[in-house]
Formats: sequence, structure tokens, C-alpha cells
Amino acid sequence: MGKIVVIHDKKFRKFISSQKIQKTIAVIARKINKDFKNENPVFLSVLNGSFLFTADLLKKVKVDCEVSFIKVASYSGIRSTGNLNTLIGVNENLKRKNIVILEDIIDSGNTIEKVMLELKKHDPQKISIATLLFKSGAYKKRLKIDYIGMEVPNDFLVGYGLDYDGLGRNLSDIYILKS
Ligand code: IMP
Ligand code: MG
Repeated sequence: MGKIVVIHDKKFRKFISSQKIQKTIAVIARKINKDFKNENPVFLSVLNGSFLFTADLLKKVKVDCEVSFIKVASYSGIRSTGNLNTLIGVNENLKRKNIVILEDIIDSGNTIEKVMLELKKHDPQKISIATLLFKSGAYKKRLKIDYIGMEVPNDFLVGYGLDYDGLGRNLSDIYILKS
């Protein structure tokens, strides 16, 4: 029986250990070190969920690189037409830069598609995507994900950056909603 944590009203069971997470990140780092030799990539980490992944990955990235943080903010529309998502935190000049987006998890793909469309407006040379977790069964887009740490089932996960209603981001292991 895996360890159980209670967050708000729900129980979660330990699903991916911190050791497994670190090994997975080491594999991604090795590929990036090989693919981005002499490329000076700019890592753009999508907050909030990607903060731990970004920190642990970048400690293992040995090529010259920059890192910055972006956020997809949803503002409720004044009209009843729904929510408008905008990208905040893109402060530097990305023209002709070699961008690597860092995501904690890709689910439907809506977020990454939005981020991609917005970043393209900055005229970068290339945009690659690295995600720690990928819900392949939920993904609905055609956008290619260049670096995938682990494929996970289409269930709700918490820990290692992922939250359930604000809580759980500080857990070093990843937990899955108990059915
Ligand atoms: P997408 O736009 O559907 O691909 O979802 C991406 C975002 O939804 C992620 O960056 C997370 O913030 C959030 N998300 C998706 N799945 C989970 C989960 O299982 N637990 C916590 N957050 C999740
Ligand atoms: Mg996220």
C-alpha cells in the first residue's frame, strides 16, 4: 500500500516517487545537453506548476542557457463571452532565440497551444517543448511535444508542483486521486 495524503476533502495515493522523478529529469537533461550544445537556449518555465521541475532540470543542464518565467493568466471577460487567456512575463527579446518551454504537465494541450501561439509572435528561431508529465489519453492537439518525461493516465495528480485547489505543490512525490 502506497502512502496516502489528504488534501482538502480528497485522498491521494503515492504514485511516482521523488527518486523516479529525479531519474526522469536526468534523462530529459541528458537529451537537452546533447541537442542544445552551442545553441544557448532560453528556458521559459510556465508557472506555477513548473517551478520544481525547472529548478531540478536546470541543475542538470550543462549548456549555456537563460531561464525566465511566464504565466498564463485568465481574466474573466467583462462580457459573458467567457475567459480570455493572456501570457504574462515575456519581458526579454526573444527574436531569433532558441526557446524551450518547460511544463509540469500537458493534459488537453490547451495551455501549451496558447503559450506556443503567443510566443510565435515574438519571432523566435525555434520553440521546443519539454514536459515532465504527459496525459496522452487526454491530449487533443497536433502540436509535437519534443521532450516527455513520463506518460501518465488521465487521472488527477498532485505534488511536485501540481496542486489541488492551491495545495500540494510542495510534496516531493507525485500522488494520484484515490478512487
Ligand atoms: P491543459 O491545458 O489541459 O493541457 O492543462 C494544463 C494545465 O492544467 C497544467 O499546466 C496544470 O496546471 C493543470 N493540470 C492538468 N492536469 C492536472 C493534474 O492532474 N493535476 C493538477 N493540475 C493539472
Ligand atoms: Mg502548469
